[in-house]
Amino acid sequence: LDDLLGEGVSGRRVLVRADLNVPLDGETITDDGRIRASLPTLRRLTEGGARVVVTAHLGRPKGEPDPKYSLRPVAARLAELLGGRVELASDVVGHSAKSTVEGLGDGEVALLENIRFDPRETSKVETERGEFARELVSLVGEGGAFVSDGFGVVHRKQASVYDVASLLPAYAGGLVLAEVEVLRRLTGTPDRPFVVVLGGAKVSDKLAVIESLLPRVDRLLVGGGMCYTFMAAEGLGIGDSLLEADMIDTCKRLLAEAGDKIMLPADVVMADDFSADASTQTVLAAQMRENWKGLDIGPITVERYADALAEAGTVFWNGPMGVFELAPFAEGTRGVAQAIVDSEAFSVVGGGDSAAAVRALGLPEDRFSHISTGGGASLEFLEGKELPGIAVLERG
Ligand code: 3PG
Repeated sequence: LDDLLGEGVSGRRVLVRADLNVPLDGETITDDGRIRASLPTLRRLTEGGARVVVTAHLGRPKGEPDPKYSLRPVAARLAELLGGRVELASDVVGHSAKSTVEGLGDGEVALLENIRFDPRETSKVETERGEFARELVSLVGEGGAFVSDGFGVVHRKQASVYDVASLLPAYAGGLVLAEVEVLRRLTGTPDRPFVVVLGGAKVSDKLAVIESLLPRVDRLLVGGGMCYTFMAAEGLGIGDSLLEADMIDTCKRLLAEAGDKIMLPADVVMADDFSADASTQTVLAAQMRENWKGLDIGPITVERYADALAEAGTVFWNGPMGVFELAPFAEGTRGVAQAIVDSEAFSVVGGGDSAAAVRALGLPEDRFSHISTGGGASLEFLEGKELPGIAVLERG
């Protein structure tokens, strides 16, 4: 981005791929973290006099316009935060997009409608993506530039993330650079002990990252829905808790390989129903109730995990410890997050639900060293996978 600004952007059209994929409740944005994280790059471009064309996705529409996935609420919030007008084109590369972009003055921002309303964005066929990328690029025309700032999507080989970068002078935005710099600290030589906290629903989603992190970490603290499959692998009865039966053998192998690196809950909060007014009971891991579900880690576990976190030099946290959206099952996530806040460690929160949990639980965001905007992207980075949206920029 510094290079681009150094060349001068005044009067130039700059296409910015941002990740504005925020959670919505109807038309209400419930966490605007990703929009706020996109502001510094947009502000630097507008201050330089660029005509900024932002492209982004929302959710996973089926490759056709769908009002449910319109970026309208996002455009409104972006305008509010930028303190200016953000016109939303009603299509992606059609008449509305063209006239909206043509109407942009220096230092103004426009947003194209959800990029995934066009099936070519996510097509596996390179020529289809290429054709779509050329249409996107033609919006900014001669003298245009591309800024990749949607860290949350750099693991996707999609037209607006990957293909456009070969068709225009392409630059990494401030957010992408900041994210990569922090995550490289974790894949390089992190301060020890390196403690990773993993939660979320499924072991299968986290298997690749567990396999890749195990040799590099000192402790892996497991919570969330995925801990019950590990506990079942230890031979414990888990009642009606979430179970991925086909992952039990894998969990057994991981536990055997990990020695004492993997820590599992010593107690859990169980409920007779998945609801905020269910009957609940905190039980030891060996005494889980039949027909009840584990929906959070218990206080003994929080204390043990907090002890491990207090000693950490580096912490990476991805995935809530329980169903934090429902008050009776929020304490595990709150307790672990508080322990990270209280530790002296270099701490990174890996996007998605954990970043939302930090904000929903009212924890001080500035007490974490970094809150990533990328869920899947930060995990794939830590796995050591090549991220197409980064690789294409590095190839230049
Ligand atoms: C995310 O929410 O992790 C990013 O916005 C990417 O979304 P996707 O998983 O639908 O590609």
